[in-house]
Formats: sequence, structure tokens, C-alpha cells
Amino acid sequence: MATSSTLAELITTRRVLITAGAGGVGKTTTAAAVALAAAMRGKRVLCLTIDPARRLAQSLGLEHMTTEAVDVRSEILEAVGVPASGSLTVMMLDTKQTFDELVRKYSSTKERADKLLGNRLYQYVSASLAGTQEYMAMEKLIAVKSDPRFDLIVLDTPPTANALDFLDAPDRLVEALDSPTMRWFIQAFQSTGSFSLNLLARSAALVLRTLGRVTGGGFLEALAELLAQLNDLFGGFKERAALVKSVLRSDEVSFLLVTSPAPMSIREVRFFSERLAEHKMPRGAFVVNRVHMPPKVANPTDQQIDDVLKLRGVVADPDLASRVGKAHADAVRLAQLDAFFLGQLAEHADARVPVIRVPEFATDVHDVEMLAHVARTLEVGGV
Ligand SMILES: Nc1ncnc2c1ncn2[C@@H]1O[C@H](COP(=O)(O)OP(=O)(O)OP(=O)(O)O)[C@@H](O)[C@H]1O
Ligand SMILES: [Mg+2]
Repeated sequence: MATSSTLAELITTRRVLITAGAGGVGKTTTAAAVALAAAMRGKRVLCLTIDPARRLAQSLGLEHMTTEAVDVRSEILEAVGVPASGSLTVMMLDTKQTFDELVRKYSSTKERADKLLGNRLYQYVSASLAGTQEYMAMEKLIAVKSDPRFDLIVLDTPPTANALDFLDAPDRLVEALDSPTMRWFIQAFQSTGSFSLNLLARSAALVLRTLGRVTGGGFLEALAELLAQLNDLFGGFKERAALVKSVLRSDEVSFLLVTSPAPMSIREVRFFSERLAEHKMPRGAFVVNRVHMPPKVANPTDQQIDDVLKLRGVVADPDLASRVGKAHADAVRLAQLDAFFLGQLAEHADARVPVIRVPEFATDVHDVEMLAHVARTLEVGGV
């Protein structure tokens, strides 16, 4: 195992590693694999994850995963080479629960907190407000960051369509809470204690457009009351958003920028990387996941194909060798395409941020052995 590889360095020098990237590129898989790689090095690791694949969770012995921290059993870890000093704890991120905890923490009195949590629109707002999920992931990170039981925290990020959403989340949440519509609600409600029909008529169109999904009698009053209460907490949120940003800028943290080799994904990750650099947020590595590798034999002859088929006991039919030949040529082309797009990443990305390639596997990463394989691939700096 190459001790000088980048991931090994990051694992030993950072306290927090964050996997970020576009939807579906492999953030959760990478987060789990990085966490396991660190445990294999004897670290005590907490992996904060979002919605891992059920089969993978089961393979880690986490059938009934809750938002409580769950330790992966030592015999499961030992089987893939984790030493006794290493451990892996997994915690699911739950947006609403984190929001609830914040409300309790920042409300001026317990009664106010209870009232807010009991507001019938709170559930809707706490789950749907722009940026809430991303913001709450950061909140959870701050809550566990200094926990002395862990050497390293790996944070998975939500399946946002756009990786930048994650970076902008704290600002967007604060903006949403402080938007003119929100302020109007609060003022209108606070001045009269309820909405006058007149005010309602004038603004109903706007309001109903914005909140088309919420219906039912009295909802505007309920909403205004909720917003007034959130406003009560607003100072708290603003402070927290600033704290989140400063944490993301610290040397203890590093982003792992996950992408697929597809041009769209590469473009997005480059843009995200530049944004991180602008914000002075540390970038650890690019992880290019699901790279098509060139076939082991570059130009197989018909004879070689026949020999392999025979060796595998495949009953030859007249077409088979030519179909295999075509599939081989396709695989070569796919690998060439990926190499070309990866070349563009290497050319345009900051040379100080290494590129780690993880191959496309024949199946999804569904058990602990495969996860360990990904972990080792990442550790040695990719394929
Ligand atoms: N290198 C790979 N080869 C094959 N399958 C992979 C590879 N990496 C990840 N997968 C599979 O792709 C699927 C999506 O991966 P994952 O859940 O990690 O993506 P994600 O970026 O977290 O997605 P989301 O944005 O929805 O959270 C999973 O089923 C995973 O097992
Ligand atoms: Mg995910």
C-alpha cells in the first residue's frame, strides 16, 4: 500500500472529510469507503451519511439504521482487515430531527420551542425550505466535530441536483427566512394578530403561487405565526450560517470532489472546485468514480477470443466470437472517451488537487468486501 498516497495523507491530517458532487455520482459510496479506509488505518471514524443503499447498510450490519450513532460490529470490520484500534460508527442524517434540535436550542423559552414544533406548517417548512437539507448536514457536522470519541468524521452530502447547492445552502436558508415575502407575513400578522381580508385579497395570488402545495382553512395565519416564531430564532440561524462557513474554511476540513467521467459531471465538478477555491475552502482530491477501464488485452485476435470462450466453458455459436469482438471494441472506445474527458479535468483543474480514479465495477457496491476494495483503491491513489 503506497503510504504517500493522497487519501492516506488526508486521513491522517484532517479531522473532517466531506464528499460533495452532483446527484448519483457516488458520494455516499465514496464517503463509506473513505471512512472504512481510515478505520483500516486504525482510526476511530464517524461516517455521517444520507440514505445509503439498503444492501450495503445490511452488509455492514446496519439493518435498522436510525439517526442514532451505530457502531459497525468489530467482527465485520476485522474480516476486511480493520485493526483493533480502528472503529467505524455510522449515523444517518435526519433533516427534520436536526432542525428540531436547533429550534429547541435557539428558542428563547421552552414554551416557544414547543409552540413552533407544534405548528402544523412547521413540518412542511422544516423539510421544504430551500437549502434546509444541506444546511442541516452542516449543522450535524458542527455538533459532532469536536466529539473526542472520533479521530475522523466523514460527511456525506445530500443528493442535490447541483453540487453548488450545498455550498450556498447556509446563505439560501438565511435569505429564505429573511425574504420580503416572509417579512411581509410577519409584519402583517404581528400588527393585527390576524390577517385582514383586505391584505389577504391583495396578496393572495402571490402567496398561493409561492405556497401552492399548502392548502386548507387558516393556513395563512398558521404560516404567519410560524414565520414570526422562526424569526425569533433568526439571529441564531444567521450566526450559525457564519459559523458553518468558517468551519468549512478551516485546515481541519477537506472536500473530496466526486464526479463521474461524463463531460457534464466533469464540467460541474470543475466549477464547484473553482467556487471552493474562491471561498478558500480546502480541496483534498477529485474522485472520478465509475471510470471505464480499457480491456486487459488491447486487440484480441479471433483465436484469442475463441480460446477464452472455451476456457470459460461457453458453448460457441457461430456469431459469438464476433459479438464478443464488438463488445470488446465498445469497451475500448468507452475507456478512450473517459480518458479524454479525464484529460480535460487534469488540464483545467488545479494541479495541486490530485485526481483519484475509481473503476466502474460490474455490480453496484453492495457489500463490505466491495466497499473494502473501493477503500483500498482510493488509498493507493486510484487505478
Ligand atoms: N464504481 C462503481 N461501480 C459500480 N457501481 C457503483 C460505483 N460507485 C457507486 N456505485 C453504485 O451507484 C449507485 C449510486 O451511488 P451513491 O449512492 O454512492 O451515489 P450518490 O452520489 O450518493 O447518490 P445521491 O446523489 O443520490 O446521494 C449505488 O448503487 C452504488 O453502489
Ligand atoms: Mg448519496
